Amino acid sequence: MKRFLLVVLGIAVALSSAFCDSKLIGVAMPTQSLQRWNQDGSNIKAQLEAKGYQVELQYANNDVNAQVQQLENMITKGCKVLVIASIDGSSLTEVLKSAKENNIKVIAYDRLIMNTPNVDYYATFDNFKVGVIQGQFIESKLGLKNGKGPFNIELFAGSPDDNNATFFNKGAMSILQPYLNSGKLVVPSGQKNFTTIAIQGWDSGKAQARMDNLITANYAKGKKLDAVLSPNDSLAIGIVASLKNAGYGTAEKPYPVLTGQDCDKPNVKALIAGQQSMSVFKDTRTLAAQVVDMVSSIMENKPAAVNDTKTYNNTVKIVPSFLCQPVFADKTNYKSILIDSGYYKESDLQ
Ligand code: BGC
Repeated sequence: MKRFLLVVLGIAVALSSAFCDSKLIGVAMPTQSLQRWNQDGSNIKAQLEAKGYQVELQYANNDVNAQVQQLENMITKGCKVLVIASIDGSSLTEVLKSAKENNIKVIAYDRLIMNTPNVDYYATFDNFKVGVIQGQFIESKLGLKNGKGPFNIELFAGSPDDNNATFFNKGAMSILQPYLNSGKLVVPSGQKNFTTIAIQGWDSGKAQARMDNLITANYAKGKKLDAVLSPNDSLAIGIVASLKNAGYGTAEKPYPVLTGQDCDKPNVKALIAGQQSMSVFKDTRTLAAQVVDMVSSIMENKPAAVNDTKTYNNTVKIVPSFLCQPVFADKTNYKSILIDSGYYKESDLQ
């Protein structure tokens, strides 16, 4: 009898774990050091759990090997779908081979996963448009369309191992390049090409150090700096710190027009304080909801909804994508975009 009970118990455990595993979704995020990824992670987890899924959520501290290991563990634990915001988009080829062998579907989250056939979907914001919005903001603030200029500008780009960084840069340059050609925009440092202006790891400290060098080499003798193209908020934080140290922020030496992306809390505070001019808002709740829809479709063996099947070539295939829409936020509209929508509380920004 005892033996019989043990066998029954064993079968029950096996069945229940098989059942639970079948609902397990792995979510791999790059780092907790930037606010946005914390929000992404917790939004996806909460929304998946609300639909009855179990979630294995991991952050990898921007360490590529740690992320690969976390993915290996997720595969071993029997996750059915992996949602991955990669650190280095080109470093997951091997681990995704093993995902494929285990019949696991893969969604690239926010950043495209490169050089592999084993990525099924991509959910992101329209990354080219993010850059366009930044370029248009500079164009409008400087009055370039009305023929004003010449103005001095310095350019920054994101991490070269992040496919998004190229898209942001191309989008912004699609607006700014004609003014560089006509001489209405001038880059006194001469540093314009992507590899020279890219900041590895989206690191604030590295952006600050580069801005320090640019100021010392090109603006020390009172040359005016009118605008800085920053692709995101972590770079903008470093750039503002450098400008502040160099004495910007006074009536004689006002802050240049400075762009950003993510609407992280410190950056929205900087918008309010007049140190950063704008940030592109990408509502992580919307992206999470899109991914949760994708996961549900995959789990029900249905094709997931996509709205772009042309843009995101990962060198092996064009990955079917869903692009959410970014919007721009500045001092004049941040309340309606960020507070009225419930994204932040007024007290978050004090
Ligand atoms: C994201 C940005 C983010 C950057 C740094 C990019 O891939 O799209 O929103 O600011 O990574 O984390």
